[in-house]
Amino acid sequence: RRLNAIAIDGPAGAGKSTVARRLAERLGAYYVDTGAMYRALTLKALERGVPVDDEAALVALLGETVVAFGGPNAEGVPTVLLDERDVTQEIRSPRVSGSVSAVARHPGVRAELVRRQRQLALHYLSAGRMVVMDGRDIGTVVLPEARVKVFLTASLDERARRRHEELARRGERPTYGETLERLRERDRKDAEREVAPLRKAEDAVEIDTTGKSVDEVVEAIVRLVEERL
Ligand code: C5P
Repeated sequence: RRLNAIAIDGPAGAGKSTVARRLAERLGAYYVDTGAMYRALTLKALERGVPVDDEAALVALLGETVVAFGGPNAEGVPTVLLDERDVTQEIRSPRVSGSVSAVARHPGVRAELVRRQRQLALHYLSAGRMVVMDGRDIGTVVLPEARVKVFLTASLDERARRRHEELARRGERPTYGETLERLRERDRKDAEREVAPLRKAEDAVEIDTTGKSVDEVVEAIVRLVEERL
């Protein structure tokens, strides 16, 4: 049975979260940013000094961790709450971005977060809401029954440029070359890991966002949704 959900996967910087958020607004759907959940756990592990290669310790930490989503902040971005603390900004820091793939490769961590993500989606779906979820394994693992699956890509250059602008807006100044290298490294880890690696689901529609505006991409997905729902 198909679910009234839209799964959006793809590499870092392809525009997933911006597109997913705008799409959800457009459709009145509930948006779940699964990357934020991995990022929040990573932030807590770094703060507590839990090593990112210690799977058992990370799973135990996750067991006493609540990640929730609140209403939009001043920039229209849904707030991410880590044990009720607003960490929306902090989870995007280079420190968290540099460690999150190491946390996300552990099967035990993934099993628990996938369980929570599915539960969240099914909760809203059963209440009659449409759900938009973005990440790396939504179409393949978290919501394989999603009615619409999109795989967003963009050239490495474009993805690095977008990420670089985002960091600059937040007052951080890595060089463009550093941003590109970090992005490439994170993609490599996400695509090469053993459990739920980043890959396009067989039935996903690939959209290359290079040179396209957010509106154009959102419209293309809305058309897919209208065809299939
Ligand atoms: O999407 P975002 O860049 O915020 O994701 C941060 C990291 O979380 C990814 O680089 C990946 O390691 C991990 N992630 C994942 N599975 C998801 C979402 C994110 O492994 N569904």
